[in-house]
Amino acid sequence: MNLEAQHYRDHFEVKSKLVDPFAREINYLRLSVTDRCDFRCLYCMSENMQFLPKKDLLTLEELDYMCSTFIKLGVKKLRVTGGEPLVRRDIMKFFERISRHLQTDLLEELTLTTNGSQLRRFSNDLYKMGVRRVNVSLDTLNEEKFNKITRWGRLSQVLDGIQAAQDAGLRVKINTVALKNFNENELFSITDWCSSKNLDLTFIEVMPMGELEQEDRKSQYWSLKDLRNKLEENYSLYDLEENTGGPARYVKVKETQQTIGFITPLTHNFCESCNRVRVTCTGDLFMCLGQENNANLRDTIRKYPKNPERLESAIRSAIDNKPKGHDFDYSRTDIKGQMSRHMSHTGG
Ligand code: 5AD
Ligand code: SF4
Repeated sequence: MNLEAQHYRDHFEVKSKLVDPFAREINYLRLSVTDRCDFRCLYCMSENMQFLPKKDLLTLEELDYMCSTFIKLGVKKLRVTGGEPLVRRDIMKFFERISRHLQTDLLEELTLTTNGSQLRRFSNDLYKMGVRRVNVSLDTLNEEKFNKITRWGRLSQVLDGIQAAQDAGLRVKINTVALKNFNENELFSITDWCSSKNLDLTFIEVMPMGELEQEDRKSQYWSLKDLRNKLEENYSLYDLEENTGGPARYVKVKETQQTIGFITPLTHNFCESCNRVRVTCTGDLFMCLGQENNANLRDTIRKYPKNPERLESAIRSAIDNKPKGHDFDYSRTDIKGQMSRHMSHTGG
């Protein structure tokens, strides 16, 4: 730690940790910094999305203040999401501010989830700010299909962004939403491509969010159990014990030695080890992705800008209400648990 960091550390009062009613320690924050995006993925947004007025969004200073407060309360890992985080104006200033917590070792990891479109521009800066890993969403390697699913995206730009990120020294994980009748036939080509490019890979089950019609949803739902069985036709998979407190489970592919993750919010109950909370770009703290109850931190931040204790106690009392588990359930005909809120607002 350099002198400046040491000085900062000495004056940064660490408070007792956040622990929820089920004795889960909350040390992971996912933060959405914007609801905007330069893509319009079918399962995420409508084509003419109405975005939030700017005054509703936390400013970069407010985001910094809020994150620093969470770090004071024991958050060790921060993932920046959106919408597309890299389209937020001056977002590098935010990363730069947050990177001081990496220098003091209070924060262990600063990462982001991105669609990759802006990585050519920002990868070197991200590395300089202490980011070492990024997740890039990519559902297909076929240009036409990519246009179809993202509506506005260009595959070549994303592939170039991924290359730029790797060249800058960032470890890249590809997140692929599993969609039947869409990328089912690319299972092996995506897996092999990731292996050849030294990219990590995680498959995600599609969640009941965004604008898909109920019929589309049912026809597009591809359970990861099925996906895994199909992978095993060509590969030998070994379960890994690795558990990040999140919904992902990991396997090792014997033939390629690559690690593949599976995120199955609908078929796997992972809630008991949940260590995370989310904050939207408007400062709503969601204790669980699958539940509507939330606490508005923006009001506290704006009402008492100079009183960190107020914000701390608002966060603590919200965590005291963290539910035991989520409500998603596809098996019921009315798709109970369907969320009216968009992924782009809450963050993936
Ligand atoms: N179901 C599953 N994943 C989704 N994402 C966005 N909307 C959905 C959905 N309805 C994913 C993106 C990205 C991550 C942030 O969330 O593809 O990988
Ligand atoms: Fe943008 Fe990601 Fe939503 Fe696609 S899934 S529209 S890239 S936020």
